[in-house]
Amino acid sequence: MPTKYAQQDIDFEHLLLIAGGHSAFQLLWAGIELGLFNFLSASPSATFNELALRLKLKSQPLYILLTGLTALGLLKKVDEGYRNAELVEERLVSGKPGYLGGILGWQAHIVYPGLQNFVESLKQNTNVGLQHFPGQGKTLYERLVSYPEIEKVFQDAMSGLSVQANQHLLNAYDFSHLSHLVDAGGGDATNAIALARHYANLKVTVFDSPSVCEIARHNIIQAGLTERIFTYPGDFLIDPFPPGIDSIIFCHIMPIWSAERNLALLKKAYAALPKGGAVLIFNMMGDDDDTGPLSTALGSPYFLAIATGEGMLHPWRTYETALSEARYAEIKRIDNLPLNHGLLIGIK
Ligand SMILES: C[S@@+](CC[C@H](N)C(=O)[O-])C[C@H]1O[C@@H](n2cnc3c(N)ncnc32)[C@H](O)[C@@H]1O
Repeated sequence: MPTKYAQQDIDFEHLLLIAGGHSAFQLLWAGIELGLFNFLSASPSATFNELALRLKLKSQPLYILLTGLTALGLLKKVDEGYRNAELVEERLVSGKPGYLGGILGWQAHIVYPGLQNFVESLKQNTNVGLQHFPGQGKTLYERLVSYPEIEKVFQDAMSGLSVQANQHLLNAYDFSHLSHLVDAGGGDATNAIALARHYANLKVTVFDSPSVCEIARHNIIQAGLTERIFTYPGDFLIDPFPPGIDSIIFCHIMPIWSAERNLALLKKAYAALPKGGAVLIFNMMGDDDDTGPLSTALGSPYFLAIATGEGMLHPWRTYETALSEARYAEIKRIDNLPLNHGLLIGIK
C-alpha cells in the first residue's frame, strides 16, 4: 500500500502540481479530445511533424500540448519520437478495458465548470456551482433532464465507473439467494445487466427517473434481458419501492445525499423489505480516521458544489451508524475492494 499524502511531508513539486491542477487536467483532456493518446497507441514514436499533421495543430499549440504532457509524465519523448506512458496506454486509449475517458468527460463538462464556485459552496453549504446548468430543480440530476447531451456524458461516465467497479461487486457478495433486487438509482442498467448475467435466477428492477429509465430500457432490450430486468420510473425519495422484492441495492447513490437523508432512505427500505430481506450499499468509502483516501477526498467537493449541495463520499462509520439506527439486525462490512470501494449489507 503506498503511503498516503496525509502521512507525508509534501515537497514543492507536489504543491506545484496541485496549484496547476487546472492546467494539468486540461492538458490531459486535450490528449483525449484530440485523439492524441489513441493515435500514439497505433503509431508509437510519431514525430512532432507527424503529430502536427494528424492533430491539425499549428507548431506552437502543439509544442505547448506535447511539452505539457511530457512534463506531466503522460508522454515519453525518446529522440524525436513521442509515445504514451505505460499507464496512459492502459487507461487513456479508447477501447481498452480500463479506459477512463468517459469519467474524464464528466470531469471536463460537469465537474470542471461547477467547481469554479467551490469556495462559495463551502460558505453557503450548498451547490452554488449548479448555476452552470440553469433549469428546474435543486439537483444536477433534475437539471440534466434539460441537457440531453450532458446527461449522456454523465450516464457514460457513471457506466464507465460502474463497469470497473461492478466486476468486484458481482463476487463481493453472493446474490444467488436473492430473488428480486431493486437497483435504486440504477442509471442506464449497467449494474442490473451485469448482475442478471452473473446470477441466472435474479430479477432486477431499475428504479430511476423517467428519462434515465428510457436509456436503461434501451440497454436492457439490447442485452436481451427484458424477462428479468424491469424499469420503474420515479423518485425513490418520494415514491414507494416496488412490491414483491426481497432486496434493495444503492450503488453510488448514498454519497449524493446527506447522512440524514440516507438514514431516511434506509428506514424506507427497511419498511419495504420482508423479514430476512437485504439492503446493500456499494460505493467508495471514506476512511474512518478522516485522512483519505485521496479518491474520496477529491470526489467530495463535486457533491457539495454541484450534484446536490448536501452529499459527500461519507466514511464507513456514517453508513454503519445509519444501518443500526434503521434497525437492520445484521450488518456486514466488505472492505478492501478495488477503487476504494466497499460494500455494506444490512439484513432485516
Ligand atoms: C451516480 S448515478 C449512479 C448510477 C448507478 N447506480 C451506478 O452505480 O452506476 C446516480 C443515479 O441516481 C439517479 N437518481 C438520483 N436521485 C434519484 C431519485 N431521487 N430517484 C430516482 N433516481 C435518482 C440518477 O438519475 C442517476 O442515474
